[in-house]
Amino acid sequence: MRVLVTGGSGRLGRSVTAVLAERGHHVTSADTAPAHQPAGVDGVVADLLDPRQLRQTFDRAAPEAVVHLAGIAVPFARPDVETLQVNTGLAWAVLSAAIEHGARSAVAASSPTVYGYNTPSWKPLYLPLDEDHPVAPWHAYGLSKTIIEDTVRALARTAPGCVLSCVRPGYVVAPQEWEGAPTQQGHTMAQRLADPALAATSLFNYIDARDAAELFALAAENPDRIESGQVFNAVAPDPLAPGPVDELMARFHPAAAEAAAALADGSAVFSSERAHTTLGWRPRRTWREQLRTP
Ligand SMILES: NC(=O)c1ccc[n+]([C@@H]2O[C@H](COP(=O)([O-])OP(=O)(O)OC[C@H]3O[C@@H](n4cnc5c(N)ncnc54)[C@H](O)[C@@H]3O)[C@@H](O)[C@H]2O)c1
Repeated sequence: MRVLVTGGSGRLGRSVTAVLAERGHHVTSADTAPAHQPAGVDGVVADLLDPRQLRQTFDRAAPEAVVHLAGIAVPFARPDVETLQVNTGLAWAVLSAAIEHGARSAVAASSPTVYGYNTPSWKPLYLPLDEDHPVAPWHAYGLSKTIIEDTVRALARTAPGCVLSCVRPGYVVAPQEWEGAPTQQGHTMAQRLADPALAATSLFNYIDARDAAELFALAAENPDRIESGQVFNAVAPDPLAPGPVDELMARFHPAAAEAAAALADGSAVFSSERAHTTLGWRPRRTWREQLRTP
């Protein structure tokens, strides 16, 4: 299959292009930043917010499937208005182009931040958080991802030939970050595990970039198994902590204390069960095997 990956030079994108190429697809990566791509991946440098470069990219890739990752990937990394404009504008432009160019599937990156944690009053209805739990974003990045999910549902209503979906990857850990390279927050994975205040900001979730990449690949490959507009959580089944996180959740997110009692068995705060039942996806890598502690 011909697959176009936007944001293919990024921390997650490099694993997505590699996994798709390993699975035998013809992959084009489009990104404003150049990057060394795996053998067989066509790397295009393009600003996909520019209509001419967007059209040229789609003409060159002629994609049967699109994986849309490009955007501003970290909350508060850029001014709020820029985060909203770039992320929502890119999603509309790329996903509409996927439909216009005849792609049969398009999957976009959302984020668990849509649930709206990290406010003092954040109180989940229940834990673990599945895709049926209401979203309640409060910062521009989380709001941009909520709008991307709505964009996917809006476009799905009038595009019967293209199945659209979203994946919410947890805190993405690229392969080199298990070895000690800094994560997107600047600290290492060993530091994140050692200091619960760091991991608490993402509710102790994580996902290996290669495992997340497999879910993006499965969503792109199996439009007939997905209800167009569907959303999938993509987090590891265990929390990033030495033991259960019920008490840690109560300490760092006090309003969630009651719901957190359900995590005493060692469950993660998020459930990815839908991706398993719909697409057969299970993360294969855990921090216990991957993390090299000094
Ligand atoms: N890293 C995480 O923990 C995480 C978690 C949840 C969701 N996500 C989402 O997954 C996606 C990928 O995240 P990442 O960590 O790889 O981010 P990243 O910043 O490493 O990669 C994003 C890429 O998008 C490119 N890009 C930005 N604007 C563009 C434009 N106008 N045209 C073309 N390319 C453009 C950037 O150059 C960059 O290479 C993002 O949508 C992010 O919001 C990431």
